[in-house]
Amino acid sequence: MSNGSESVVDDVKQAKAALSNIDWSFHPGPALSETELKPFNARKYHWYPATFVPEIPFTLIEILTSPGATVYDPFSGIGTTYFQALSLNRKPIGTDICKVAVDYTENLSTLFDPDCDHQKVLHSLEEKFDEYSDGVDYSTEVSDEILLDELRPWYSEPDFQKFCFLFQLEAANENRFEKAALRIAISDALKSHCSQNRGWGCVADNMHPKEEQIMDKRALSGVSSKLQVLLRDIDDHLATAGDYYDEIYSSIRDSQTIFHTDVREFTDIVDESVDLVVTSPPYPEMTDYVAAQRLSYYWLGEKVGLSDRFNNDMNTEIGARRKRSRGSSNREYLEMMYEANENIVSKVAEGGYLCYVLPEIDDDEDERKEIVSKVLTDIENRNEMSRIEDYMRVIPSNRRSHNIKWTSLNQERISLFRKNDES
Ligand SMILES: C[S@@+](CC[C@H](N)C(=O)[O-])C[C@H]1O[C@@H](n2cnc3c(N)ncnc32)[C@H](O)[C@@H]1O
Repeated sequence: MSNGSESVVDDVKQAKAALSNIDWSFHPGPALSETELKPFNARKYHWYPATFVPEIPFTLIEILTSPGATVYDPFSGIGTTYFQALSLNRKPIGTDICKVAVDYTENLSTLFDPDCDHQKVLHSLEEKFDEYSDGVDYSTEVSDEILLDELRPWYSEPDFQKFCFLFQLEAANENRFEKAALRIAISDALKSHCSQNRGWGCVADNMHPKEEQIMDKRALSGVSSKLQVLLRDIDDHLATAGDYYDEIYSSIRDSQTIFHTDVREFTDIVDESVDLVVTSPPYPEMTDYVAAQRLSYYWLGEKVGLSDRFNNDMNTEIGARRKRSRGSSNREYLEMMYEANENIVSKVAEGGYLCYVLPEIDDDEDERKEIVSKVLTDIENRNEMSRIEDYMRVIPSNRRSHNIKWTSLNQERISLFRKNDES
């Protein structure tokens, strides 16, 4: 039965048969040859918390849509869905409230340009890194907009100087590919090379490293090695991306595809223009996406306070961990998610699909289980949406979250819906 779109699989039975054959734990993954396109792991180059495995969006996009389809991730984080869509010759769209995540996705997307010579970028940057000299005070050369006083307590003095060197190198660089590569590596290194070694929660809570924790983390060589891996990986990945990749990239090169916005207010794409939504919404009280990026926000010139009022991104973030002590946090989470659902559903085309990946909570966690299930029934209760199927994913034990409230998180539910399904 046709819903009129050629961009999605119209035969739901066929889609369900293919999806029910997938081992959603992806463990071990399929053996693929060197020349076959594999999921691109955007998480390898940034420590951004609570991202999903690239195999999930890759599989859903490949099975449910055709090349040229529009794929939207409303909570796009560092673009896990975005880069699978692009590599599979679909048009990617992403929105996120975290400016740092959006900056990362934009820059990685720049490096996905088929005109980019990744080896040339690497060599040129390595030559520039060689100009670093111990004993120079690079902090005097850095733009006033960067909040250096906020950054200084997090690093040893040698690392602080190396970051100042990198900041001015990035600001002065006029080559857009080199600039993009530097922005990715700096943003990642600001946390992974800070002296607070007890995880992102301490950074989110603004717990400066103690004197005995301060150590030299060799920030410049860290950035350099990460860039080598990143640029080589993109090169290898694009070599397998297929004949139409250049065409799809040209179609997005000059248009905005990644937006820094509250998803509830996203109006930059027209209603009913998306063939597939794949996303993992924020979970209630689990992660502070914005505050955890405070070091990168300081570099971008923005304050991040413990309280929402200092930062608009924090203010509009859904499900933040810091709200856990407020009695109203679960109600607030649901209200925000219902508003998000409404706007997200409005973007899906007739016959298009929507897929949410959410944690499967143990039965003894009644309240939390109910909240997550309400997010899904809210979609199901919208007139035009039908729930097609749910798939369970067992998270391999080495990838499980050990966050205090979510220690029992060992499964995810992948819930698939369709708009105006006539089959
Ligand atoms: C589970 S993460 C998504 C990670 C993503 N799947 C990835 O692999 O990178 C949820 C995301 O929702 C974003 N978010 C929270 N509130 C939001 C809002 N009001 N509008 C848009 N994005 C929001 C967070 O910043 C976070 O990046």
